[in-house]
Amino acid sequence: MHADLTGLAYLAAAICFIMALRGLSSPETARRGNAIGIAGMVIAVATTLADPGVVSFELIAAGVVIGGAIGTIIALRIQMTALPQLVAAFHSLVGLAAVAVATAAFYAPEAYGIGTVGDIKTASLIEMAIGTAVGAVTFTGSVVAFAKLQGLVSGAPLVFRGQHPLNAGLGAVLVLLVVWLCLAEAPLVYWLIVILALALGFLIIVPIGGADMPVVISMLNSYSGWAACGIGFTLSNTLLIVTGALVGSSGAILSYIMCRGMNRSFFSVILGGFGVEGGQAAGGDDDERHVKAGSAEDAAFVLKNASKVIVVPGYGMAVAQAQHALREMCDTLKGQGIDIAYAIHPVAGRMPGHMNVLLAEASVPYDEVFELEDINNEFATADVAYVIGANDVTNPAAKSDPESAIFGMPILEVEKASTVLFVKRSLASGYAGVDNELFYRDNTMMLFDDAKKMTEEIVQSL
Ligand code: TAP
Repeated sequence: MHADLTGLAYLAAAICFIMALRGLSSPETARRGNAIGIAGMVIAVATTLADPGVVSFELIAAGVVIGGAIGTIIALRIQMTALPQLVAAFHSLVGLAAVAVATAAFYAPEAYGIGTVGDIKTASLIEMAIGTAVGAVTFTGSVVAFAKLQGLVSGAPLVFRGQHPLNAGLGAVLVLLVVWLCLAEAPLVYWLIVILALALGFLIIVPIGGADMPVVISMLNSYSGWAACGIGFTLSNTLLIVTGALVGSSGAILSYIMCRGMNRSFFSVILGGFGVEGGQAAGGDDDERHVKAGSAEDAAFVLKNASKVIVVPGYGMAVAQAQHALREMCDTLKGQGIDIAYAIHPVAGRMPGHMNVLLAEASVPYDEVFELEDINNEFATADVAYVIGANDVTNPAAKSDPESAIFGMPILEVEKASTVLFVKRSLASGYAGVDNELFYRDNTMMLFDDAKKMTEEIVQSL
């Protein structure tokens, strides 16, 4: 294909990718965004295959068939709850691909037009050294993230003394090796870079707690983008450079948004050691405090007499897979003329958009779902806040207790509703391990049970 035409097609694909990202930023337009992204990828692949430099279509066809088949089977089988580890696994492949391409270019530079063995252009050496280093860090980091999320190894943070100085030291050595490779172009130095970067990827991710993984996944997503971008330079492929940069920057922005939503610095996440697995019991002295517990019938009575109900879903709803029962309950209430709205906290659940995905799966209408800043003022006029499996995102300690781990995190002000119904199994804390004093307030009724079971029983009672 003529170079101008290739450039034009790549530009069209890049525009598709940008529009896809735009579409994916809202649940209403996410499907369209996905479709545009697919169109962009078709243009990208077709244009690349039309390149006169392609020597073997057989190998490519075999790769497409085998890879496509594996991808299709995985996509059809994957559970919604297992998406984070799937994404981690995919990122590891991107990292590995970056290392493989850089290695190929290092040993056969003529094929890439970047010089001859022993005399590779310095700019290309820099690109491939950085590409391979970032790719190798992404590979082992993603494998560790996958193993933690899949439960193959403990999700708890693995912390040891001198960990951070060690990582910083290894990082500095890695930079020196990159410089050395550019000066000497020695295969030994190249492989040292690969080995050191593989070790570093492992060491960076092991201290991070399983529950902090969503931020890590998005960070690895960013790394995989930058690795692809570096390889784009080696291959002189503008689309790969643009796409890699898009992935790299959107992953970094997403990590930032998540950290801001939790009011934690990016470094406190990366340095690790935060987050409890599965919740902890509330603190000792507090156990003496009075808690009002109710049954499904009590809850149905309160709900039936309300005129405005705001639902606050959280991680527990995802665990219980209670979204369908929840929608059924809300449909029943709507049928009785009760106003229903869903309030979504930016970090409710364990991954970005977690609650939106679950509610969409249960066909909850988009116009009933509101973001924190759009609904927070509404709680004061609501009769009932139905908090289902959410905890931290409602905890007023974020506003009142400067010592609290969640201090400064914006919260949904459910306590302003006339009655707060909390559906959870116990008084245990949530992800941040912080006791929630709302459980002991006069206008709170605790509904102790699995979120799905309790909601189904309320539907029965209604
Ligand atoms: P959490 O504060 O983690 O609380 C979830 C609650 O659900 C737990 O207290 C638990 O109490 C309850 N639960 C668990 N299984 C349940 C079941 N089967 N039925 C009923 N309840 C169940 O969740 P949240 O309010 O959604 O807040 C999210 C937290 O995760 C925040 O601290 C946030 O910073 C953090 N985080 C979020 C993200 C993203 S991107 N969303 C990423 C990393 C971290 P019981 O054990 O008593 O049932």
